[in-house]
Amino acid sequence: MTVAPASPEAIARAAEILRRGGLVAFPTETVYGLGADATLGDSVAKIYAAKGRPSRNPLIVHVGEREWVAGLAIPDGRFDKLARTFWPGPLTLVLNRRPDCPVSPLVTAGGATIAVRMPDHPVARDLLKAVRRPLAAPSANLSGRVSPTRATDIDDQLASQIGMIIDGGPCRVGLESTVLDLTSHPPTLLRPGAIGIDAIEAAIGPVETGHESPDVLRSPGQLASHYAPLLPLRLNATDRRPGEALLGFGPVNGELNLSKEGELAVAASNLFAMLRALDQPAVYRTIAIAPIPNRDIGIAINDRLRRAAAPRPITG
Ligand code: TXA
Ligand code: MG
Repeated sequence: MTVAPASPEAIARAAEILRRGGLVAFPTETVYGLGADATLGDSVAKIYAAKGRPSRNPLIVHVGEREWVAGLAIPDGRFDKLARTFWPGPLTLVLNRRPDCPVSPLVTAGGATIAVRMPDHPVARDLLKAVRRPLAAPSANLSGRVSPTRATDIDDQLASQIGMIIDGGPCRVGLESTVLDLTSHPPTLLRPGAIGIDAIEAAIGPVETGHESPDVLRSPGQLASHYAPLLPLRLNATDRRPGEALLGFGPVNGELNLSKEGELAVAASNLFAMLRALDQPAVYRTIAIAPIPNRDIGIAINDRLRRAAAPRPITG
């Protein structure tokens, strides 16, 4: 495995690895993705194996142009409106698969739907254009762990199974994309992200939210425990208890502060890197986190924090 700074040569080499069926980790505006040619079943299988991801949890298909979607899925008017408004960008749309969709059924976990997104990062876009294939790409972390927002955050165990990592610097948004299911009427928000519900509703009308309880599980990103550091979390903390590392926000100061100025977009881009930095079981017993206002991208931050703080399944 090599870590290569982003350059036209690195992207050409990565495209060759992908065309030959290998895996490449690459930056997007949200988090680093672990990519494979979505049409090659053997390559997609390597993603699930490398992450330790349950095969019933489908992957997002990344496209280089909006027009690629017509060959994969059955878009409708709402899709056209949203893609025209928010793509390239951190919005994933779930559509019905075309019967002749060339994407491996492994990507969509054998289901009738397919999640598509056009990322807004020059490296991701150049890579997609160089490969000229849709790329299946989950976040480049071990299943259940925190997503990487810097190339150096990619776990060694995972990195050893990847042909190449393209280092494009830190990710601008820092939280995974908004996931919206367009196969239901009204559409259903499956995962909050940087594209907020208000902006989506302004474009296409009412959206169903609150599908977070496990009995209505539709997207495994909704599993209770997810995005978790090793240490337990205590949310809405305004003080530091013995053994705790405090992750501050605004006036609540701690070992680190997500944004002293109280800017939610800054907090989102710092969140995963700061959780990693404080995740030291030899030093702390718990990570306490200051209250984050539940508006704008604060909604997505609180969603990830709730999952990170949720009881962990015993998986061995
Ligand atoms: O920002 C992102 O979306 C990043 C970057 C790399 O693009 N990717 C990412 O992928 O977060 P992943 O695999 O970590 O999360 C994808 C989410 C999961 O919650 C998955 O269950 C859901 O999207 N998903 C994928 N395909 C789906 C489908 N057909 N129906 C419903 N949910 C789907
Ligand atoms: Mg993920």
